[in-house]
Formats: sequence, C-alpha cells, structure tokens
Amino acid sequence: MDTSRGKTLVVGAIGLNQSQIPPHAAGPFDPRTLFATPTNAFEIEIGSGKGTFLVQQAVRQTETNFLGIEWTAEFWRYAADRIRRRELSNVKLLHTDATEFFRFWLPDQIAGVIHLYFSDPWPKTRHHKRRVIQDETLPHFHRVLAVGGELRLVTDHVDLWKWYQDHAARHANLFAIKPFVSPDSAGLGEVVGTNFERKFARQGRPFMAMTLVKLELPVAPDSSLASTVSPS
Ligand SMILES: C[S@@+](CC[C@H](N)C(=O)[O-])C[C@H]1O[C@@H](n2cnc3c(N)ncnc32)[C@H](O)[C@@H]1O
Repeated sequence: MDTSRGKTLVVGAIGLNQSQIPPHAAGPFDPRTLFATPTNAFEIEIGSGKGTFLVQQAVRQTETNFLGIEWTAEFWRYAADRIRRRELSNVKLLHTDATEFFRFWLPDQIAGVIHLYFSDPWPKTRHHKRRVIQDETLPHFHRVLAVGGELRLVTDHVDLWKWYQDHAARHANLFAIKPFVSPDSAGLGEVVGTNFERKFARQGRPFMAMTLVKLELPVAPDSSLASTVSPS
C-alpha cells in the first residue's frame, strides 16, 4: 500500500505487474482475458500517466475494455487507485514497458485503437532511442491492431511531431495518415484532455495530432501454388 499526499493508494484488482503476466516463453498473452467480457471491443493506452484519459473515456465507452500501460510505478499506482475508486470494471492498468509488451507478449489483431498522448519527447539525440515511436515499434503496433485499427498520436513537442511525420512517411505501406478526431470525453477546446495537455495548455503550448490508420499488407503469393502451376 502506498500514499500520495497523505491519500492511501490501493491498486486492487485494477493494476497488474509484469510478474502477474505469464513468461514470454509461454507464448503470446491476450490481455482481453483479464476482463469479465473479453469479447468486447478493446483499446490500449501507452503511457497513461495519472489515468485521466482512461477515467474520462471509459465511463462513456462502457462496451469497450481499456488496457493502460504505464512504466512509472508512482503513476501506475495513482491511476489504478483512481480507476478502482470509480469502480470502472472496463479498465486494467499494466505496470511495464509498453514497447517490450507489444514486442514479446501481445497477439495479432486484438486492438481497435492504440492511444499515445503526450509521450515523453526525449529531446537529446542520444535519448531518441527511448521514444515510443520507432521503426522497430511501428510494425508491432500495426500487427496488434485489428483490421482498420488506429494509432492515435498527440504531442506538444515540435521535434517529436517531426519524428512522427517522418516515421509515418517511412511506413506508408503500414499506415495511412488521417486527421485526429477528439474523443467525446475531451472538454471544450481540448484535443484529448489529459493531465499533460491541461498543464501545457496553461503554458500556451500548441498541440499537434494525427491518426495512423492500419493498412492491410498485400497478401504474399502462395508458394504452394507455385509448384503446381507451370509456366506456359
Ligand atoms: C509525459 S507523460 C504523459 C502522460 C499522459 N498520457 C498525459 O498526457 O497526461 C508520459 C508517460 O508515459 C510513460 N511512458 C513513457 N514510456 C513508456 C513506455 N515505454 N511504456 C509505458 N509507459 C511509458 C511515462 O512514465 C509517463 O507517465
């Protein structure tokens, strides 16, 4: 049990640690099985922070299960406690590195949306490898998204925005770029209404947003046919 400003934080059944997930060697892990209604629509938020997007949106989208992934223990505990207090049964929070979880655990085509809002910009060149969007992570986001699924990106950081645009252009075979549509939980004039957005809005910072829509890859030629069909 932990505290934040004197308030007792209880993770309860909302929060999971990586140790509660089967080892990678056991094969893919499907987080939809964590929910009472695993067949419901499923969305993932990477870097949930204090959980503001999840608590605002999950109450409006009750037929969707949400998995938040947060690697800072303090924020993970805080967000899990908030969700537990609101009795939101359609949200779970995993304490781990989302990029590793996508790469080694998540099965194909399970998520309708991946949300990535105000991701850490890691401005120093030597730290760029820590950014969530990478040439190596985009194919995993594509793989985990269901047909027509969306990766939604919002940032206030001009250099990170350029990074997103460059990565989207390099992976135009995987994703089409579409305008970002705010969730219905966003307040007046807000893009999403996360904690960081509200903090940056008070500083007058501009926001940039895009939606990357999953494209289907061309089907590889069936090699079994190759041996049965002779050139004329
Ligand atoms: C700048 S904060 C934004 C939080 C929230 N999305 C918001 O807009 O208020 C970025 C969050 O992403 C988390 N984070 C960064 N990289 C992560 C990763 N690879 N896996 C999980 N969480 C990550 C950080 O711990 C931090 O809480």
